[in-house]
Amino acid sequence: QTLKIGLIPADGIGHEVIPAARVAIEALGSDIPKPEFHDLLAGFELFKRTGEALPEDTVETLKECDCALFGAVSSPSTKVTGYSSPIVALRKKLDLYANIRPVLSVAPSPDQQPDVDLIVVRENTECLYVKQEELTNGTNGKEARATRLITERASRRIGQMAFELALARPRKHLTIIHKSNVLSITDGLFRETVRAVPSLDSVGGRYNDVTIAEQLVDSAVYRLFREPQIYDVMVAPNLYGDILSDAAAALVGSLGLVPSVNAGDNFVMGEPVHGSAPDIAGKGIANPIASMRSAALMLRHLGYTKGADRIDKAVDEVVREGKTLTPDLGGTSKTQEVIDEVVKRI
Ligand code: NAI
Ligand code: MG
Repeated sequence: QTLKIGLIPADGIGHEVIPAARVAIEALGSDIPKPEFHDLLAGFELFKRTGEALPEDTVETLKECDCALFGAVSSPSTKVTGYSSPIVALRKKLDLYANIRPVLSVAPSPDQQPDVDLIVVRENTECLYVKQEELTNGTNGKEARATRLITERASRRIGQMAFELALARPRKHLTIIHKSNVLSITDGLFRETVRAVPSLDSVGGRYNDVTIAEQLVDSAVYRLFREPQIYDVMVAPNLYGDILSDAAAALVGSLGLVPSVNAGDNFVMGEPVHGSAPDIAGKGIANPIASMRSAALMLRHLGYTKGADRIDKAVDEVVREGKTLTPDLGGTSKTQEVIDEVVKRI
């Protein structure tokens, strides 16, 4: 039996951190089925070379894989004709409707909040990220519009995923993030649909032990900085979830620590929360931990708990010890030194 894993470093530090995830998985030996890696192309650099950001071959190979790891893409901030972000496209093509981002404080340090242990569950397929934008000329000069799509189906399945995750955690507490005081139709639908999940016939009372709270997104950011310990699982529409999870990453020291998975019913793709970090790309100092933890999270999602635990434990030890850290965590170590240190412990 093998575990087929697609590897898509894409751009920038993706090329430095995805190999870290690979060696961490290889170090697990017989705790997982024998891994079979497939190196796949995507990204903005690829687009500039070939005119294609996400080759059909990459998508087709992924469909044959059990899971995948994605690095990061360097999406330009201005419109580039013919280019569209491959990660956004992949989430849609593989129907990876949930982005799950656990944020955990490990080492107590001055710029870290202690005892943070939360998961942001972000809807991954709609909201403003349907990217239906339009520019017209009106009486006020140029007018730009964007469609924000919230559906009952997507809200229900992300809600179910969030309840499922909450149920598996000690505190079993779910906070629904929205702004339905202003956007009563779109965010209202999200809020109501998630709230109604426990009463679905198909669920049959399964989530009765989960306590539910809700919070407007702006005050949620405030409370996230003031008292992040109140949160356990947070579920949010796409854009709010994107912003909240980067903000939550700041609580625990660095974006270079925070993993995620994009999950659907049939496929899971690990992805560090950070981007391609052009400011440090190529210098060999990117923190590989977010990527290694994304591998662990991916394995955990597939049920390989023991392998996932071994990676997480090794990473936690290295961070807690504080001797081998990259510059984003105040250290002077290189990416490779951190990788070696973690792999040694696995
Ligand atoms: P970024 O996450 O790439 O970088 C933000 C800051 O964090 C930078 O100072 C960077 O050096 C640092 N950082 C990030 N990851 C790190 C790591 N592993 N180790 C050490 N330091 C790390 O976000 P930014 O600068 O806003 O975006 C850069 C590019 O990445 C953009 O083109 C953006 O579109 C893309 N991006 C892609 C994402 C994805 O592929 N899912 C997510 C976010 C941004
Ligand atoms: Mg983001």
